[in-house]
Order: sequence, then C-alpha cells, then structure tokens
Amino acid sequence: MRRKIIFATGNQNKLKEIRAILPTFDIISAKDAGISIDIEETGTSFRDNAYIKAKAIWDITGGIVLSDDSGLEVDYIGGEPGVYSSRYMGENTSYTIKNQNIISRLKDAKGNERSARFRACICAVLEDGSAIFTEGSMEGLISQTISGENGFGYDPILYLPEYDKTSAEIDPDEKNRISHRGKALTAMKKKLEEIYENTDC
Ligand code: IMP
Repeated sequence: MRRKIIFATGNQNKLKEIRAILPTFDIISAKDAGISIDIEETGTSFRDNAYIKAKAIWDITGGIVLSDDSGLEVDYIGGEPGVYSSRYMGENTSYTIKNQNIISRLKDAKGNERSARFRACICAVLEDGSAIFTEGSMEGLISQTISGENGFGYDPILYLPEYDKTSAEIDPDEKNRISHRGKALTAMKKKLEEIYENTDC
C-alpha cells in the first residue's frame, strides 16, 4: 500500500506536478481529504506560511501533510512583492497591471540591478508533528516589457538570461524542470524517501 500524503492546495496544476515528482506516494488534496478551511497566511516568510498551511491541516487530519508557499522577489525594490506576491496591489488586480507596475518601479534600474527570482518553500509536517522544509529558486532579471503567454502570475516579466526568454516564453515542461517549485519538490522527495525508505508503507 502506498503511503498517503495530503497536499494543502486546491490548485490542480500543483497536484499534478507533485504527483509526477512523488509517484511512490498517494497524494490527495485537502478537499479530497474532506477539509475545506480558509487558512490565513500571516507569516512574514515563505517558510512561515508553508508551515502555517501544513500545520493547520495536520491539526485536523494528522498523517503527513505537505504545503508550499512561493513568490517573486525583486532586489531593486527590497525583495517585494515577496510573501505578498498574490496580494500585491490587491488580490483582484490583474497580473498585467501588477507586472506593468513592477516594470515602472524599475525604470531606472540597469543590468544586474534588475535581479529577481521566484522562490518556493515546501513544508512537510510528519506523523509525529515535526516539520521538515526544502527550498528552491529560479533566478532571472525583470524584463523591460511584458512578454510571453505561458505560465501565470509574474512569468511574463522574469527574463531568464540562459534561455534569452521570459519564464512565460519557455516550454511549460521545461519550466517545471527548472522552476523554484520543481527544485523544492525534488529536494522534498529525496528527504521523504530517506525517512520512509526502510519502513513498511
Ligand atoms: P502561491 O504559493 O501559489 O500562493 O503563489 C504565490 C504567488 O507567487 C502567485 O500567486 C504568483 O503571483 C507568484 N508566483 C509563484 N510562483 C510563480 C510562478 O512560477 N510564476 C509566476 N508567478 C509565480
């Protein structure tokens, strides 16, 4: 029998991605586990928020609960929008407006002053309530214009010099392979396999 993991997300794309990376575990969404609670992300770091989400579900279900938190960090503006990435300029503001706003705020930034990255933190709360964490990032530069149709969120403004494309212009499978979340999930897979490899599932 495969060991069950609850993933604290309602996002089907994230579920698909994590199932592909962790095929030896049975990954179910919080909703499929019968949980529908609103969890306030009150943390000031991706790590805090990832823990808050996993622990809130674990408090109800026990077992193994995974969660993630991610965002865009732009160095020129002190790491903004960071943990506020989805709330930046308001939850309901379109990403065209958010992206254009970030480009405007960087109008005087040149070359490496435009450095930025997507960062992701994955948290797993284990059966005994202890937590383990992994992180991943994808480095780039804020582009001068919005470009590309793939992906979501801030993808059209994170320019990846090694591809000479934005994150919204590269192939989606390639993005999953090199992305912040992909790296953090792969690192979590390794940790979970180390912990559970010699135990009966
Ligand atoms: P969450 O971790 O799914 O809540 O994502 C937080 C926010 O960070 C998203 O709503 C996006 O604004 C931004 N973000 C995180 N990962 C990505 C990505 O891969 N591409 C574009 N934006 C991202």
